[in-house]
Amino acid sequence: MAWRGSQADSRNRYLTKFDAAEADRYDGSVGHLSREDEDAYLSDLGRVAQFREGAAVLDVGAGTGTLCRILSRLRGLSITALEPAPAMLAKLTSKAELQRVTTVEGFCDTAGDRHHFDAAQFDAIVSRQLVNGLFDPLTAFGNWHHWLSPGGVVVVIEGLYGRSAWTGIWQEEVDVLPLSACQGTATVPYLLEVAGFRVEAVQLMDAVNRRPCTRTPRYVVVARKQA
Ligand SMILES: C[S@@+](CC[C@H](N)C(=O)[O-])C[C@H]1O[C@@H](n2cnc3c(N)ncnc32)[C@H](O)[C@@H]1O
Repeated sequence: MAWRGSQADSRNRYLTKFDAAEADRYDGSVGHLSREDEDAYLSDLGRVAQFREGAAVLDVGAGTGTLCRILSRLRGLSITALEPAPAMLAKLTSKAELQRVTTVEGFCDTAGDRHHFDAAQFDAIVSRQLVNGLFDPLTAFGNWHHWLSPGGVVVVIEGLYGRSAWTGIWQEEVDVLPLSACQGTATVPYLLEVAGFRVEAVQLMDAVNRRPCTRTPRYVVVARKQA
């Protein structure tokens, strides 16, 4: 039974939806964080993950660069952004503070996406609000495992989204994307284990969740590739 359409169709819908107008809307709302909001992210991340100076970090589904911007406040990281939607990527590359971020246009969740990077190229792979939108999370996690160096770490930031979070043009995706509406924190670490990672932390982001701009509670999962 074809319980959902093809991944190619899903990708085309995604790219059509994230046009220039949607990228603008996103960048001005969910993508926009104040300095204090960024401080809250750094505080919550600092409790579960360390990024050493000189580390090669990949931000998957980087969008307009919100997480790149947060991480660029840490010393000496070499940041790469992978993002499939040209309009989102254009916003990211237009930001003066992100000029040192390397950008790659592409998705991450087919076997064919593996060619974007070399094996063991990154010390850390991070994502914010990407995983709920993946068509094939297990293939994505397999690619991430391949791109990470031994001992490297995955840091997933997600929201506890329910069905009602999927509104407007996004509503039709809720029963297509496997992690669209996980209202618990267990599914992401469970799947990261299946993909070969060792889970080190699963925590609500207390500082982020206290910020007035946070409507849906956020959590973070940290998982490591065996050294
Ligand atoms: C909700 S936005 C989050 C953007 C950014 N990470 C942030 O924190 O604001 C999700 C982003 O993931 C991208 N994306 C969607 N599916 C993807 C996939 N399979 N692989 C990589 N990126 C994807 C979208 O184009 C979009 O820019």
